[in-house]
Amino acid sequence: MKKRNHSFPKDFLWGGATAANQIEGGFEETEKGLSVSDVYIFDENTPKENWTDQWHLMTHKQVEEAQNPSSTKYYPKRHGNDFYHHYKEDIALFAEMGFKAYRMSIAWTRIFPNGDELAPSEEGLQFYDNVFDELLKYGIEPVVSLSHYEMPLYLATEYGGWVNRKVIDFYVRFVTTVVDRYHDRVKYWMTFNEINAVKHHPFVSLGVIEENHPHIEQAKYQGAHHQFVASALATKAIKEANPEAKVGCMISYQFLVPYSCDPDDVQATTEKQRVSLFFSDVQARGYYPAYTARMLAEKNVTLEMEPEDEQIMKDYPVDFVSFSYYMSNAVSAHPEKLEDAVGNLVTGGIQNPYLPSSDWGWQIDPKGLRSVLNQLYDRYQKPLFVAENGLGAVDEIGQDGKIHDDYRIDYLREHIKQIKEAIADGVDVFGYTSWGCIDMISASSNQMSKRYGYIYVDQDDMGRGTKKRMKKKSFYWYQKVISTNGEDLE
Ligand code: BG6
Repeated sequence: MKKRNHSFPKDFLWGGATAANQIEGGFEETEKGLSVSDVYIFDENTPKENWTDQWHLMTHKQVEEAQNPSSTKYYPKRHGNDFYHHYKEDIALFAEMGFKAYRMSIAWTRIFPNGDELAPSEEGLQFYDNVFDELLKYGIEPVVSLSHYEMPLYLATEYGGWVNRKVIDFYVRFVTTVVDRYHDRVKYWMTFNEINAVKHHPFVSLGVIEENHPHIEQAKYQGAHHQFVASALATKAIKEANPEAKVGCMISYQFLVPYSCDPDDVQATTEKQRVSLFFSDVQARGYYPAYTARMLAEKNVTLEMEPEDEQIMKDYPVDFVSFSYYMSNAVSAHPEKLEDAVGNLVTGGIQNPYLPSSDWGWQIDPKGLRSVLNQLYDRYQKPLFVAENGLGAVDEIGQDGKIHDDYRIDYLREHIKQIKEAIADGVDVFGYTSWGCIDMISASSNQMSKRYGYIYVDQDDMGRGTKKRMKKKSFYWYQKVISTNGEDLE
């Protein structure tokens, strides 16, 4: 029997997470191409209530305008927080906090600007050489996402995105190139960030413009199938380069609970949760789960597959399961009949009356994280990695010139406590990289003012500011958490 453990394992990977498209910048003066995330604008005149909606739909008109060099709109993800020029300073700050790991992504468009070139950009490869060398100088383990909402825009506009099987080859060429170059320095890889997000925002996940697809569910699941095959081929390439390397899947895990004990609510919750778990089921086990046939038939989806697809998926499942966890959500089978319930505009579910919400309406549920860790471990019996978790909040500089972000410390503390509980439950968790260890552009709202960092960056929603970095109160708190290996959370 496994012994009960009350502490974090001694080599636990504490750290922080970012994504290239939200942090780097370094666009105009480099060979980098436009990615799907680079077409989202931030407009100060957009009514506040629409800010979080920007991620969901993308039209041909918006894409065309974004490609026009004389567009006067502001595209925040082309600028990030200028990590491209600050990486040494930023990594030194991560090291000062005691990071054991740093989760980051490699921008596909920095290596292959359009995605279909035959040869990579040496300048782009050199940049990540520098970043990895800098991390390793401090003993920080890089954990690399190979695709984090940043496929080349050209593959979306010219090839139709992941619905087109050819994109598998372009992705594999990109992966093979970076794995050949970095396999001696990178041990942990994730093939696709939040792969289940294809369901909610197919443009950033798949490069699919919904206007082109009257049967959008068909496009989403066909694109997902191609990503499953691509993920297995990437795992093969990584293992061939370094058999010791570890590859993970990554899903967005929004924990769902029935709004009531009405059996219809319970069944609706099981089905809705499966919409996410479907993706980790395939990647962790290496085959489509038994419920797939009915699920796809009810959506009138028919997958086109090549004969070798199922074998490659079976041969190369992932080694570990990782996920982002920010919130939970309640599910009702009959929301129209509920008089007192409040709709959760962010998730499309129902607000849980027992939970508080962030300023962006994300419902805060630390105990849900313990449930999620137990569910995933019971289901897969594979090591787990908490790839993202954190609180997006507006930070104000106090009169003493400092940022007292106690609300962020509270959020993180309560979640870390629940990871510890899950470890005591017997769950194998080997790392925690909180989201947005340094302030950067929000993925969904494109704001800078939705901040997650331990490190403040002097920059506003329109990119104005000195870009000066400043330590928040949470910086010192997290430093203590890491130095005590999670024993001192106060
Ligand atoms: C996850 C993404 O969905 O949530 C990140 O993987 C993102 O890219 C994070 O930044 C937080 O979301 P947001 O919209 O608040 O930036």
